[in-house]
Amino acid sequence: MKLSRKSHCKINLLLNVADQRDDGFHELEMLMLPVPIFDRLDIELAGDSIELTCNQPGIPTDSSNLVCQAAESFAAKTGVTGGVCVHLEKSIPTEGGLGGGSSNAAATLLALNKLHDQPLGQATLHELAAELGSDVPFFMQSEAAVAKGRGEIIEPVAPLDALDGKSLLLVRPGFGVPTPWAYQGLAKFPQAKNRPLGQANELAKNLANGSLAEAGDAFYNSLEAPVFDKFPLLKLIKQHALANGAEAALLCGSGSTVFAICPDAATAQSLSQAIETEFGKQSLAQTVPLPGYFPDTVA
Ligand code: C5P
Repeated sequence: MKLSRKSHCKINLLLNVADQRDDGFHELEMLMLPVPIFDRLDIELAGDSIELTCNQPGIPTDSSNLVCQAAESFAAKTGVTGGVCVHLEKSIPTEGGLGGGSSNAAATLLALNKLHDQPLGQATLHELAAELGSDVPFFMQSEAAVAKGRGEIIEPVAPLDALDGKSLLLVRPGFGVPTPWAYQGLAKFPQAKNRPLGQANELAKNLANGSLAEAGDAFYNSLEAPVFDKFPLLKLIKQHALANGAEAALLCGSGSTVFAICPDAATAQSLSQAIETEFGKQSLAQTVPLPGYFPDTVA
């Protein structure tokens, strides 16, 4: 029994971090958008343990990988015996703020549940997802959503029509940003936290009913403060994007990727070229159409 699945990534159009909780995590509200850049997972029920291989040598294939943790938690919850072999074909950069590892974990849970004939219902899958990581619940579905709490409370939103036909440029430099470092760094920038709550829903409403030109100014990410302070290149890339055709630009999650939303593919391509001319070649400079429905199944 085997199955192949695509595993998409995300950007945050808004990431408003509030207070740190007793468990060390922060309360937050986010507006998250699925993005059609995919890893691929080939999953087979075989052997008697959890085996992970990956096309990229730098990616850990032991139990520190969220794919293995997802397979372990699925087995513990269902009591299924027997092993699983996963091959992961990575295209989403790591430490880029694009949620690739979280997406891989969600894809593993969904694939295993399918391969075993759906022993777990939605609510239990969601619980397992939330235990694996703050962004994993968002990746259990493929639509834009508001996320609250630690990230595990997912609220569907109306289609973000203002993004229809736009082109997204993702620029990731040659370095990554560890997420725990970015959150810790917020302590030095209290003014970047605790913006009034409700902005994620408000932005979703404005992007559903209005234009990007009007709503673009409301894009916000608390983590820009510590990350731009340490890595000024990222701020310069964002400013360059806004001065050269982007209607909105922001740091993705905790970085290091910066995204720019352009009116069309030609503008995104020429912006990508302009950024390369100004700052040199970056490790990722990819243009994708927005928003579009994209199935996670492999044809
Ligand atoms: O949940 P996840 O393992 O993806 O979180 C990675 C890190 O990001 C956490 O260890 C924590 O430092 C930070 N984080 C946080 N509050 C959240 C989500 C993540 O402080 N709501």
